Amino acid sequence: MSRIHRYDGAEVVVEFDLARCIHTGDCSRDLPEVFNTKRSGRWVQPDGAPAAQIAHVCADCPTGALRCIDKASGQAMDSPPKYNTIQIIADGPLYVHAKMRVNGKPEPGYRAAFCRCGTSRLMPYCDNSHRECNFRDDGKVTVPLPSPAGSQGPLSINATPGGPLMIEGPFTLLDAAGQVVCESSKAALCRCAASKMKPYCDGSHTAIGFNQSQDINGTKQA
Ligand code: FES
Repeated sequence: MSRIHRYDGAEVVVEFDLARCIHTGDCSRDLPEVFNTKRSGRWVQPDGAPAAQIAHVCADCPTGALRCIDKASGQAMDSPPKYNTIQIIADGPLYVHAKMRVNGKPEPGYRAAFCRCGTSRLMPYCDNSHRECNFRDDGKVTVPLPSPAGSQGPLSINATPGGPLMIEGPFTLLDAAGQVVCESSKAALCRCAASKMKPYCDGSHTAIGFNQSQDINGTKQA
């Protein structure tokens, strides 16, 4: 069964990837006429607001769980950001806003949340497991990356089996307070939770025997 739910309206289709939703509540706060989890029946009402407003809220979904498709053209109503960003979320995932390839495949949208706690069942994406395992990291960063900033372009994100999230391509790293840490073009970011230099990998994944595969189909492999 597909994990993507479709909500058809007159002008737009809203696609919702339940597995990637971590219930930040942004959509229901910003546009409750359309997104309302307390409503009985369909929680998404794609005719509840102008199409442009729905598209804007979907494009801002930080995990990429929501997408808005123009019914007439069949095209997604979003666009890549001018600058790629990676933001650390305190006690939570990494939010990436970029045109990106993940484990070699083009990401359909421009936002995704990546696991930092090491326990997601949707690796390398976040599935909210950090709450269950009580992951703690304040998201403060004191050491900027040494590698130079790159020019504009897409990001390549690869989850190395049993190791970090490897980032290649130009990006700005933001701490949990939204402050710019640095601009860079290469990073190895911890996804096992054990690093003492978060958000960077310090090799601790070897010591703890971290064994998450790079599978992106929602299957946790030993
Ligand atoms: S992935 Fe966590 S220390 Fe390397």
